[in-house]
Amino acid sequence: MKKIISLVATIALLTVGAGISFAGDGEKVFKKKCKGCHTTTAKKKMGPGLKGVFGRESAIAGTLDDAGLTAYLKDPKAVNKKAKMPNLKLEDDQITSVIEYLKTL
Ligand code: HEC
Repeated sequence: MKKIISLVATIALLTVGAGISFAGDGEKVFKKKCKGCHTTTAKKKMGPGLKGVFGRESAIAGTLDDAGLTAYLKDPKAVNKKAKMPNLKLEDDQITSVIEYLKTL
């Protein structure tokens, strides 16, 4: 019984720990994969500035909610064949965490 309780406690701690580091991991993904073309302000670089991007309506990428961003980040050209943004071949968890980060901008 004691073992089960400590196991449950460990899992709870791990879950909380993962929750806290989520947006931080997204920031790392952003610096590695997005920063070359995007700023975190409103300033345009190669692509649009991403400040306040979550929930935005994009002419190319559609509605930028969780589902819309996930589809676009997976494969921009599958969402809109005119998209200039390349497929960055992100892992699913990189997509999830970078979206969490975009929500904070
Ligand atoms: C090689 C340059 C390049 C890289 C790298 C890149 N993007 Fe883009 N992105 C673009 C361009 C160009 C657009 C404008 C729409 C289009 O043509 O696809 C865009 C559009 C977007 C949009 C839609 C914004 C809007 O308001 O229309 C989002 C969101 C986005 N990018 C997120 C990201 C994220 C997150 C990453 C990193 C994981 C990333 N991009 C990496 C070039 C890039």
